Amino acid sequence: MAAFYNSLKYLHVIAVALSGALFFIRGVWMLIDSPRLNRRWVRVAPHVIDTVLLLSAVALTLIIQQYPFVHTWLTAKVVVLVLYIGMGMIAIRHGKRKSVRAVAWIIALLLFVYIVIIAWRHDPWPL
Ligand code: HEM
Repeated sequence: MAAFYNSLKYLHVIAVALSGALFFIRGVWMLIDSPRLNRRWVRVAPHVIDTVLLLSAVALTLIIQQYPFVHTWLTAKVVVLVLYIGMGMIAIRHGKRKSVRAVAWIIALLLFVYIVIIAWRHDPWPL
């Protein structure tokens, strides 16, 4: 079980790194009005990566038997994840003006870093 847990955590962290990196690059492409933002793989890959991220997250919670809305650090992760997704949607597609999209992109990146810190520290108030 320990080996399975380690592999899953590895998978989760790889998905986290890919998801964050791709979100960062998509934000840059949004800022410079790059047509690359509309490439098919760029629109599909985030869904695939984020599905792996969430499935590995659910499996990890089952293995360590700690759950959102029971353990505060996981509750915080889910709440901040929802805010991150919302900001990400404004940043990449729905923000009407570029200034709005840029601010949403920066807030989303900060929220992403906050989720990583919560994950490391198992604490919603890590500072
Ligand atoms: C963008 C979203 C997320 C990011 C950036 C993220 C980040 C991370 C990172 C960096 C780790 C490794 C921590 C370490 O090295 O000890 C981790 C572990 C973990 N994550 Fe996530 N995560 C995200 C979403 C979620 C969600 C939604 C859940 C569950 C509701 C979750 C549950 C877990 C669990 C259970 C672990 C293992 C913790 C441990 O055993 O120490 N993650 N996450």
